[in-house]
Order: sequence, then C-alpha cells, then structure tokens
Amino acid sequence: MMQKNDAVDDHSEAGLGFTVDTHIFRELGDLLVGRDSTALAELIKNAYDADARRVQVRGTSLSDPGRGVITIVDDGHGMTPETFKIGFLRVAGRQKEAGNRRSPKYARRFTGEKGIGRLAAHKLAKRLEIISVPDKSVLGDKATAFKAVIDWDRIEELNTLDEVREHSSQTDLFSLSEVEPRPAVQLSALGPNEIPFELQPHGTKISLQPLRRSWTESERIKLYNEAQPRRRVGDNLTRIEWNRLVLALSTNFATD
Ligand SMILES: Nc1ncnc2c1ncn2[C@@H]1O[C@H](COP(=O)(O)OP(=O)(O)O)[C@@H](O)[C@H]1O
Ligand SMILES: [Mg+2]
Repeated sequence: MMQKNDAVDDHSEAGLGFTVDTHIFRELGDLLVGRDSTALAELIKNAYDADARRVQVRGTSLSDPGRGVITIVDDGHGMTPETFKIGFLRVAGRQKEAGNRRSPKYARRFTGEKGIGRLAAHKLAKRLEIISVPDKSVLGDKATAFKAVIDWDRIEELNTLDEVREHSSQTDLFSLSEVEPRPAVQLSALGPNEIPFELQPHGTKISLQPLRRSWTESERIKLYNEAQPRRRVGDNLTRIEWNRLVLALSTNFATD
C-alpha cells in the first residue's frame, strides 16, 4: 500500500520519471511476435525453462473467438505468489539473467532472457488466467499455490501502469473484491484443497479466454514447427501435446 502512494507521489508531485501507458502491452505484443503461433510458443518455452517434462496445450471452440479457450498445462516447478510478482508481473524482468542461465533441475539452457515472452499472450486473448503450484524442492518449503487473472481489456481501459496497480487486488480467497469490482490484475492464495488434479504435484496452468481471433489448422501446424526440437538430449524431454496429440518431443528450443 505504501508503495502505491509513493509511486503516485513520485509522478504527480515531482513530475519526473517515466510513466508507462497501458498500450505498452499491445505494442510489445505486436512487436514481439507476428503470429499467434509464436505467441503460444513463448508460453511453451516458459514451461520448458521451468523444467517441465510435459506440456499439454488444449484448444476448444477455436473457430469461435468469443467462446474459444486455449489452455497450457505444464508440470514444471511453477511459481509462488512472490515469484509471480517479480517474474510474471514485472515487464522485462531479469529472472533468467542471473547465474548460469540454466534451469534448476535439468540444467536446460534458458530459452527466455528478455523477460517479455509471456506478454505475447496479450495477442491471443483478452484475459489470462493462471494457476501455479510450486515445487517445494525448487522454490522452498514455504512455497504456496495461487491463482491470478490478468484482464487485458480492463488494463487498457486504464491509462497508465500506476493506475493498473491501483485497480488490482490481492486477496486470501479468490472472490470478487468489494474494493475493486473489476480488477485489472487479481491474485489470491490457493488452499491445498483447491489445487486442480492436473497440477499435482506441481505445475502451471494458463488459460487464455476469450480469444481475440479464431485459430486455424495452419496456425496449429505453424505452432508445431515452432515448437520443434532442435536436438534430443537423453531424458531431458518436454513432451508437447495439442488436444491429446503429441506435437513434439522437444528439448532445445532456439533462444530468443
Ligand atoms: N510456465 C511457467 N512456469 C514457471 N514460471 C513461469 C512460467 N511462465 C512464466 N514464468 C515466469 O515468468 C517470467 C516471465 O516469462 P517471460 O515473459 O517469457 O520472460 P523470460 O522467459 O524471458 O524470463 C519467467 O522468467 C518465469 O519466472
Ligand atoms: Mg520466456
């Protein structure tokens, strides 16, 4: 809370320092990737970087954007609310710059480095919902699961990223916040009983809905090509599936 007021003061009183328009997401999303398949590939690469052995991509009602949903479920090490805030909610964060730039478990060379890959998801859907269940052996004994929603449409109704912070909510339970009826970003803790079966013992599920455009068969094939393995290394495999069809047994993606 203190931080929020400080940030507002910084800009209104001192009048110096950068403010960022919420259109940054649209601009970055468009600049980053030309194709929807590339945007989805960024999310798959993040699962790979998180030491996932399996990534399931599911698409339903893909020809009807309003009803269409794409979900990406991985069995990687996941995130905690804290790593979500400094990793996922920080634009151009340096999460993967530190150390030897390799994943903790399988020492995979990180595909991500610029800290903007997941912003390409803005291109795909108006809303991003994420549930993550952290692997305690990687993120610590106290690591807890969470659920969050990023409402891109709501974000773009606001002018600056400072306003996004003011219109976001963090609660213990995932309920409609009384303070913020339509939060731009909502984050809440997930109790042990609320963890979906498919995320046990750990992993991340990202749901994209509603879609901005319909997905075609050719887009799916492009995704297949973009998620293709470079080379295979022992048991260091990420199995990628699209609607139960194995897309690729992938190991090393090209780095960005
Ligand atoms: N599936 C995932 N599992 C675990 N962490 C993730 C996942 N997706 C994203 N993250 C976190 O979000 C951060 C931002 O991802 P991204 O925008 O692709 O940037 P980069 O991969 O270059 O760090 C990652 O560094 C990671 O901390
Ligand atoms: Mg990435």
